[in-house]
Amino acid sequence: MRQILPLLAAALLPIVLTAAEPAPAVPPRYEIRADHDPNGTGKFYLGREIAQVMGHRAADWLERPEREEEEQTEKMVDALKFREGEIVADIGVGSGYVARKIAKRIGASGIIYGVDIQQEMLAVLAKRMAMFRITNVRPVLGTVTDPKLPPASCDTMILVDVYHEFDHPFEMVAAMTRGLKPGGRLVLVEFRGEDPSIPIKTIHKMTEAQVKKEMAVHPLDFAENISMLPWQHVLIFRKRADSAATDDCCVAPTSRAALLQRPAAQ
Ligand SMILES: C[S@@+](CC[C@H](N)C(=O)[O-])C[C@H]1O[C@@H](n2cnc3c(N)ncnc32)[C@H](O)[C@@H]1O
Repeated sequence: MRQILPLLAAALLPIVLTAAEPAPAVPPRYEIRADHDPNGTGKFYLGREIAQVMGHRAADWLERPEREEEEQTEKMVDALKFREGEIVADIGVGSGYVARKIAKRIGASGIIYGVDIQQEMLAVLAKRMAMFRITNVRPVLGTVTDPKLPPASCDTMILVDVYHEFDHPFEMVAAMTRGLKPGGRLVLVEFRGEDPSIPIKTIHKMTEAQVKKEMAVHPLDFAENISMLPWQHVLIFRKRADSAATDDCCVAPTSRAALLQRPAAQ
């Protein structure tokens, strides 16, 4: 026995040591840096600094008369070939400048969820939709981590000049992906970060490579870059058809009837 005990202790030693070792540290998803762009938040995600959210007091800038010439949103919306009856979410809808153009294409049988985190912006949206007699846009108050949309409900989600200012980009894309139907489109319209001649602050632009890097951690496949706009790229991703299995909230697609009965805002 005296001979066996040291052997047993030696055999158990690595197990005891392993159990006492601390778990490897998981790197934090976001990083705060003191040295950063004065127009940014100092919060970084996958090497990119997150921009400050555009306040509701600047809503008039979204409706500036020169916008159509600079961004050609009619052309952009046409290129996306929305179908009659589509269920769309305009995330970071602002005053609804783009939403009201989509509203015409999808017709009365379609729905646009106009999601924003600023209640004041949703008030501007409601006023403008009433002014244009548009009835298929539903305001939804989201949070910085959740657009509060029904699971697997949307054919298309569009974000025009919004993604780069998400405070929690990982959580938002995860939640948006859950809200897309399998095969549904996620459309990101961002000012081209590759082009220094575009007169927009660097922090409010994104490169195609950076957008792809950030989407690659989600069950999304890159489909296309529609590069016909003067200043922006239109990057289209599709939710993987088999990804519903990993979405614990995506039990079954929401029926059209349920969507139409959904309250205007939460
Ligand atoms: C620059 S504006 C763009 C508005 C609109 N897409 C347009 O092009 O006219 C950005 C909007 O995104 C909203 N926003 C920022 N973070 C958001 C989030 N996590 N979820 C929803 N909206 C958000 C802001 O409140 C603001 O209204």
